[in-house]
Amino acid sequence: MPEDQTRHRQRSYDAFLAPMEVAWFGKWRRRILKDLEGTVLDIGSGTGINLRYYPGNVDCVTVLDPDSDNLSFLEKKAERWGYGTNSGRCLNTQMGAGEELPFPSHSFDVVVSTLILCTVKDPVKVISEGARVLKKGGKFIFMEHQLPRKGPQAAIFNLISPVWHAPSGCNLNRNTEKMIRSNKKLKEIESFRGGPLLGYPFFIGSFEKK
Ligand SMILES: C[S@@+](CC[C@H](N)C(=O)[O-])C[C@H]1O[C@@H](n2cnc3c(N)ncnc32)[C@H](O)[C@@H]1O
Repeated sequence: MPEDQTRHRQRSYDAFLAPMEVAWFGKWRRRILKDLEGTVLDIGSGTGINLRYYPGNVDCVTVLDPDSDNLSFLEKKAERWGYGTNSGRCLNTQMGAGEELPFPSHSFDVVVSTLILCTVKDPVKVISEGARVLKKGGKFIFMEHQLPRKGPQAAIFNLISPVWHAPSGCNLNRNTEKMIRSNKKLKEIESFRGGPLLGYPFFIGSFEKK
């Protein structure tokens, strides 16, 4: 695909998210990312929206995405937040899928998963791979949307999900919180549910590797 067109796709993603970033996501990202330190793996980094929220105590961020166009867009954008230049903050880019992370076990202090478990082929595998590459005592941070818990809202999400999936690749009706909680290596530090409409469909949480 010509470079102009791919850039357009990434810019459209950022523009689509922008109102939600102002209304909710930005606030949640700041809250869950502000106290991190050490080495961070950001799975499904997309256009790199999280980069601006990582604090100075983060030594290095590794971003992983299966889409090479996302990664090259992100590298350019990252310079704005002080990453990737010779004297700048450490940034590694890695093409790959969350289901098969190309890193040894116990590699990172933090693993971050924001708005990806709706899209990946196998969310349970991504969670278990994230837990595998975390050091003992490391943090797994989530900001994900899921099937609302209340019946009527869940019915609406189940109805819309196939239509929404076709253009976006995103599933609106996964039981994401349950999948996270069922991982035996993770212990909750804190979590909350958010979103103004339709039964709080966002799950935001911080977990520790046992
Ligand atoms: C909705 S975007 C989220 C981007 C970013 N994390 C954010 O918070 O804005 C979903 C991202 O997941 C990536 N993705 C899709 N399948 C994946 C997989 N199997 N493993 C890792 N990332 C994947 C996509 O390329 C895309 O960049």
